[in-house]
Amino acid sequence: MDLFEYQARDLFEAHGVPVLAGIVAQTPEEAKAAAEKIGGVVVVKAQVKVGGRGKAGGVKVAKTPDEAFTYASDILGMDIKGHTVHKVMIAQGADIAEEYYFSVLLDRSNRNYLAMCSVEGGVEIEQLAVERPDALARIAVDAGTGIDQAKAEEIVDAAGFAPELRDGVVHTILKLWDVFVKEDATLVEVNPLVKTGNGDILALDGKVTIDENAGFRHADHAALEDTDSTDPLEAKAKEHDLNYVKLDGEVGIIGNGAGLVMSTLDVVAYAGEAHGGVQPANFLDIGGGASAEVMAAGLDVILNDAQVKSVFVNVFGGITSCDAVANGIVKALEMLGDEANKPLVVRLDGNNVEEGRRILADANHPLVTLADTMDEGADKAAALANGK
Ligand SMILES: Nc1ncnc2c1ncn2[C@@H]1O[C@H](COP(=O)(O)OP(=O)(O)O)[C@@H](O)[C@H]1O
Ligand SMILES: [Mg+2]
Repeated sequence: MDLFEYQARDLFEAHGVPVLAGIVAQTPEEAKAAAEKIGGVVVVKAQVKVGGRGKAGGVKVAKTPDEAFTYASDILGMDIKGHTVHKVMIAQGADIAEEYYFSVLLDRSNRNYLAMCSVEGGVEIEQLAVERPDALARIAVDAGTGIDQAKAEEIVDAAGFAPELRDGVVHTILKLWDVFVKEDATLVEVNPLVKTGNGDILALDGKVTIDENAGFRHADHAALEDTDSTDPLEAKAKEHDLNYVKLDGEVGIIGNGAGLVMSTLDVVAYAGEAHGGVQPANFLDIGGGASAEVMAAGLDVILNDAQVKSVFVNVFGGITSCDAVANGIVKALEMLGDEANKPLVVRLDGNNVEEGRRILADANHPLVTLADTMDEGADKAAALANGK
């Protein structure tokens, strides 16, 4: 999960990284109040999870609270590279003498961590890496020892900082490594890291990516999620602990086990070629326990996708046997009532399959069609999605 700049700033502050005051605002009024509270020159900064905000007109210096109000009015609602601005951060204005770059990230290809640092910051780092690769120091960081005093000094020396800046930058890098480790991040980037007129080192723009797999260790990370822009169906699926990914097609897919769902997507895409080119509408793995509640939650998510024309339920009964799954489907359809309004093709196999099929046949629900095999089910579901 990528964080907004203001969230990165807050994490930096909590771990002792030198930052300036910053207050998030959702309206021009809030922006003005924040500027009054901070006092002096402030910078109004668009909060979007994309770089290059400055160039796009999303970073403006305001000399008075009234100016902050005006700039916030301009920036809120702006579109920056396809991201709508819902929030701005009012940041204390810095007296910038020089701009530098620092990042540390998980380097998957080398099964290691990598620190990058340059005394030529502020610009787009991808551009610097291509045009002047020598100006960007790349230092491998061993996962066992991490960035200790010696490693931080190695990074600072490789980047070529002036001697009088060495201690300040080393100190800041050690604190940024604290953020990386203690918050279970996969990326911590500061661009620009600046020297002020007084010679102080400050992190002026932060980008942090949090490893969601470590969420169980961080009760506070859930609150960092951006609920404004998550897909409502994905949010609903997450609420029920379902593994759901929205795709572009018309055939809703429910299966148990990631492998089975993946192959169901393939079979449906293949079957769809003979039925007007219909495609899978989603990936949805309801996991091992296909209880009525889980089945209802899964169906609820899929049926609420306006693009879905038919649903293919493909379940292999294991520990949860087919009769339990069949009962789950019947109860789920009862629970959903009128909300269940699209045809369902069900293919069951595995443990207790005869009993499962009998339960569905007895229930004789008008929306449900049974299929004996996966290919047959995929073909029926694709045909139904194509209006047959
Ligand atoms: N608090 C601040 N005070 C003064 N100048 C700032 C401040 N924040 C950003 N800037 C200036 O604006 C530029 C772009 O801002 P930045 O936060 O890096 O956004 P982005 O990287 O998305 O363009 C910075 O390189 C810096 O020169
Ligand atoms: Mg930046």
